[in-house]
Amino acid sequence: MEMKNRFMESSVGLAFRRLGILSLIVAVVLGGSLKAVEGGSSGEAGKEALPLEVDSAPFLSVSRATDPMKETSDKKRIEKLTSQIEFLDQLYYKENRSEVSDQEYDTLKQELEDLLEAYPEVADENPVMERVGDDRTRGFQTYKHLVPMSSLDNTYSEQEFRQFVHRLEDRFGRSDLSFSVEPKIDGLAISLTFENGRLVRAVTRGNGVEGDDVTRNFATLSGVPHALTGARIPALVEVRGEVFMPREVFREINAMRERDGLELFANPRNLASGTMKQLDPEMVRRRRLQVRLYGMGACEPAMVSSQSDMHALFREWGLPVVELTTLCRGADASWERIVSLRDAARELPYDTDGAVVKLDDMALQRQAGSTSKAPRWAIAYKYAAERAVTRLREISLQVGRTGAVTPVAELDPVRVAGSTVSRATLHNADEIARRDLRPGDFVEIEKAGEIIPRVIGPVVERRGADVQPFVFPAVCPACGSKLIRLSDEVVWRCDNPVCPPQIRRRLEHFAGKHAMDIDSLGESVIDQLVSAGLVRGVADLYRIRMEDLLSLERFGEKSARNLLAAIESSKSRPTWRLLHGLGLFHVGASVAKELAAAYPDLMDLMDASKEDLMRLSGIGEVIAESVTLYFADPVHRELMSELMALGLTVQSTDVAGGSSDLPLKGKTIVLTGTLPNYGRDEFTAIVEKNGGKVSGSVSRKTDYVVAGESAGSKLAKAQELGVKVLDEAGFLELIESH
Ligand code: IVH
Repeated sequence: MEMKNRFMESSVGLAFRRLGILSLIVAVVLGGSLKAVEGGSSGEAGKEALPLEVDSAPFLSVSRATDPMKETSDKKRIEKLTSQIEFLDQLYYKENRSEVSDQEYDTLKQELEDLLEAYPEVADENPVMERVGDDRTRGFQTYKHLVPMSSLDNTYSEQEFRQFVHRLEDRFGRSDLSFSVEPKIDGLAISLTFENGRLVRAVTRGNGVEGDDVTRNFATLSGVPHALTGARIPALVEVRGEVFMPREVFREINAMRERDGLELFANPRNLASGTMKQLDPEMVRRRRLQVRLYGMGACEPAMVSSQSDMHALFREWGLPVVELTTLCRGADASWERIVSLRDAARELPYDTDGAVVKLDDMALQRQAGSTSKAPRWAIAYKYAAERAVTRLREISLQVGRTGAVTPVAELDPVRVAGSTVSRATLHNADEIARRDLRPGDFVEIEKAGEIIPRVIGPVVERRGADVQPFVFPAVCPACGSKLIRLSDEVVWRCDNPVCPPQIRRRLEHFAGKHAMDIDSLGESVIDQLVSAGLVRGVADLYRIRMEDLLSLERFGEKSARNLLAAIESSKSRPTWRLLHGLGLFHVGASVAKELAAAYPDLMDLMDASKEDLMRLSGIGEVIAESVTLYFADPVHRELMSELMALGLTVQSTDVAGGSSDLPLKGKTIVLTGTLPNYGRDEFTAIVEKNGGKVSGSVSRKTDYVVAGESAGSKLAKAQELGVKVLDEAGFLELIESH
């Protein structure tokens, strides 16, 4: 778990690959050598391993074999499944990608679970099962749930869903049972404890019995009241629900990472769970997580007798409840709702991966009871990812800012999971070889909810006689330079620093909103400048003259003047923008701010050692190495001197670097009373980190007073002087809304 989070938070995945661990895993799964993975682009070894063959008897119970031969083969199968799942986990958590659908993955896991139930002696030490359903992470206090948080049985089959209903009907001798059908939110489970109506604790599911206390992180979520409203307040209640990252926020974060040249996060669920396990609540706040509630653990005194009552009571309390819940009678109506919910749920701000169906009546729930793993009164129906077949017209190659050559599937447009798909990344040469994808093939593609489309593989039976294997080119499709591949990388790179698409991408990044923010220097102008040979690197931008621009098509005097003015005004941007714009590996906007704050003169940064840099907060070895390597290159040192000579700001007078962007820049804040989630020191740290300063007394110069419990005379003074007063949530909101 700890490792999972670390990987999600950084681009160390790359460093991990450098260690060749992925190769090792592939080799273990294959029982083969490392050779094929490290060698050329053929990837023969991968061919044997993937796609994984997924057996189709996932829900049958397995009993221990009496025949020793069968026992040996069962145990072999356990080993194989374990390494396959480990391989997929590694790929998923460390490289943010998957080679099988969720359904195939769940099927493998279910088979392993069933087998291990029959062979408990190997189950205990099975590394995969050890982790199943346990999210506890080092660095957090654990807390025991008053009522354990169980998980749910899940199914992908209508027949199994109907069996679930019929079992309950038989059990109670009734055919009119009502079920609450709800979206299954794809996030992480949370249990909130309210004592006398006040939120005192937020705990993750953990292993179901005890979880991690993430109260301080949870407190940063907006839209959750810290005190219940209404007249019916229990002495104690555990309210359960799901924390998630809204799709929009996820898109924004990834778009920003893409601009910064950072590895993208795989999906909102992983990012949400990684975020909740951050040790810095500030970071959590920025990720704008939300919660929806759908269940109850302990409640003293008991207050509800059905799921529907419970939802109504949650609303009365002012809690955000899972949307689109309907009450359905019997198997047919419930099934119809499961089906219609799939489309309806697309409008929700979060990803869903199925429907949860719960017996509405809680007295009946208690009678139905639970198995060792899950309640008998609820089931999750998971939607299989939607698939479609279309033609792979061609495999195009994109050259990125760092020279990485990425193959892209150009598809005949096809509708799947609510949108039209015409392109999909194929990641790298090995993936193409592993799947034996050929231009002209019919291919199966898959899209689960909002997730990026994935090419599963060719429909070999429909392959035309003239369809030829794809040969990954040995030279750059743009400039013809020989492609290189470091022994520890999966990508092929064009090593030519003046390769035109690389130049274009670098300039786009440099001029982009989040770097030098040069208005009117968009993709098409950059294209013109590079094609005309006027610009080969960022320094050339500052050498462009009026007559150069006037010689270009579509440039009139006015547009030329505007562009020159925009370029000119970019010279005095804060140094972190320049640093970010240069596009060093692993140096996104926030790292650039950190570095510029510590080294107001970028010339000093050029001479900093790896050790110097690692002393800064937020700078680890990977970043430090990237920075020192960059500035060790004479070409880059020369570039810095050139930029300085051309009049760019390389020496910042603004010691806080990026502080002009900080939400509390120049603000004076006074704290009075006790805040629910932060001590005085922590509060001060948050204020300072956001560019403000904390003062001990209220005056007309005070911008805000933040008042907690037992606020005293300072609050009165603030009111007297008309200074704005905020509570903790309002204060956090102020920073967040910046
Ligand atoms: S009820 C005993 N309702 O799905 C019933 N769970 O696969 C406990 N989930 O651990 C859960 N949406 O984290 C329930 N509307 C919903 C849900 C939901 C998402 C999650 C939850 C649970 C997991 C089981």
